[in-house]
Amino acid sequence: MTVRWGIAGTGRIASDFVRDLSHIEDAEAVAVGSRTAAGAGEFAAARGIARAHGSMSALAADPEVDVVYVAGIHPVHREHAVMMLEAGKHVLVEKPLAMDAGEADGMIAASRTAGRFLMEAMWTRFNPLHTELKRRLDSGEFGRVTHIESDFTFEVPRDPSHRLFDPAKGGGSLLDVGIYPINLAWWWLGAPGSWTTSGNIGPTGVDEAVTMDLSWPDGATAHLTCGSTRPGPRTSTVTCEKAVITIDAPSHSSPTASITAGGQTEKVTAAAPGLHHQVREVHRCIGAGLIESPRMPHGESLRIARFMDDVASAIRGR
Ligand SMILES: NC(=O)c1ccc[n+]([C@@H]2O[C@H](COP(=O)([O-])OP(=O)(O)OC[C@H]3O[C@@H](n4cnc5c(N)ncnc54)[C@H](OP(=O)(O)O)[C@@H]3O)[C@@H](O)[C@H]2O)c1
Repeated sequence: MTVRWGIAGTGRIASDFVRDLSHIEDAEAVAVGSRTAAGAGEFAAARGIARAHGSMSALAADPEVDVVYVAGIHPVHREHAVMMLEAGKHVLVEKPLAMDAGEADGMIAASRTAGRFLMEAMWTRFNPLHTELKRRLDSGEFGRVTHIESDFTFEVPRDPSHRLFDPAKGGGSLLDVGIYPINLAWWWLGAPGSWTTSGNIGPTGVDEAVTMDLSWPDGATAHLTCGSTRPGPRTSTVTCEKAVITIDAPSHSSPTASITAGGQTEKVTAAAPGLHHQVREVHRCIGAGLIESPRMPHGESLRIARFMDDVASAIRGR
């Protein structure tokens, strides 16, 4: 049976998602919602999507939509996700799930009340390279993780109206890309025991560079960095007891890595990454009657949101 997707938003990632959805045989983008009828109409026409809605409430009321992909800027995630859940839709929400942990908590509560699926679209956890590396890590092949270095720093012109720099649009590098190094550390090591952070707030009032140093009770450590106004390596290096794994840039979505162990280096190349791998998990969970995925559970999104709240407060000296 085909799962009928609605797309909430018409920006860059909405476009990429519809493109990647075409890789999934039992998925179809059947409707799009936008703040304007013209925006929705243009997006739908260019992609062969049957129905274009000029408001999110019209998309929510569309009886022929099973699951909605929330693809707007961060500050609309909570409103759009809760609206869709209350209308009986399952929901996949772009990262970060919400602006803060309070919003994330409300979204999870709405999912439970409605009995509808909710997941943060942390696509890294579903990309082929990352799932293969995690499988090998879990098998014990590499031994325990002892240190992670992970960066997502990229250079974007400082346009105050761009969503990355405008506080009203949820600006800041931590929420936008810092979530990727944090995700890797949480996924491979769990929540840390202690941490320190420092960061720069730019002229538009949002963080433009953040460093985080984390430690775990077993002695593992991590150094995580993100930023939006300068180039960075965007690689991840995971040191384990028996191997050093280097994930090539951009490491959150790379298909390639090197594993050095016992003086030998193995090059790993996996199938292409994409936004569709997570869609298979959404379909599996919906089919199984689950409201959360064990691979990106509600509690994990909430813990990461709480950590980002704490980091944001610390770098502002609150
Ligand atoms: N997984 C990834 O690799 C990845 C990559 C990029 C972005 N993202 C995430 O995807 C989300 C959207 O990012 P994007 O790069 O696609 O952003 P974008 O191109 O700027 O599009 C954002 C969309 O948000 C909607 N929106 C609602 N209220 C808005 C407002 N007040 N001002 C501007 N737009 C508003 C607009 O849709 P309408 O005009 O149709 O209402 C707009 O098209 C973010 O949460 C981001 O973190 C994920």
